[in-house]
Amino acid sequence: MRLLILNGPNLARLGTREPGIYGSTTYAELAAICIETARELGFEAEVRQTDDEATLISWLHEAADSAIPVILNPAAFTHYSYAVRDAASQCTAPLIEVHLSNPLAREEFRHTSVISGIAAGTIAGFGVDSYRLAIRAMVGLL
Ligand code: DQA
Repeated sequence: MRLLILNGPNLARLGTREPGIYGSTTYAELAAICIETARELGFEAEVRQTDDEATLISWLHEAADSAIPVILNPAAFTHYSYAVRDAASQCTAPLIEVHLSNPLAREEFRHTSVISGIAAGTIAGFGVDSYRLAIRAMVGLL
């Protein structure tokens, strides 16, 4: 079973980006952890990151067309991108929203997610474990 783990803007900079908020795990380490966790649970995970809204939308279209389950960290797009939401809402297999930090405990502009309403669920605030938990939750959904 394939699984797409999609990451939005600035997430490739994990490790050096505001480590007090996002931790010191690098993006490469996060990707490896996701692939291994998914493998243990019977998924073949592909982990991607882009800073580009159009690219993220095209990946969501790909997931929709092939009924591939998605774990999505939309990063800042979470808070304002109706285009990402509209693409995500076309998904034909479950989509779980993840965040490393807890946006509800941060600045007010982060308190809105335009994605949560079309996600099967949201896991936030556990750092890299948010992704581990999301992969486990996906097993339950499928
Ligand atoms: C984030 C939270 C967002 O508010 C922020 O813009 C990010 C990362 C997280 O994983 O905690 O880029 O999605």
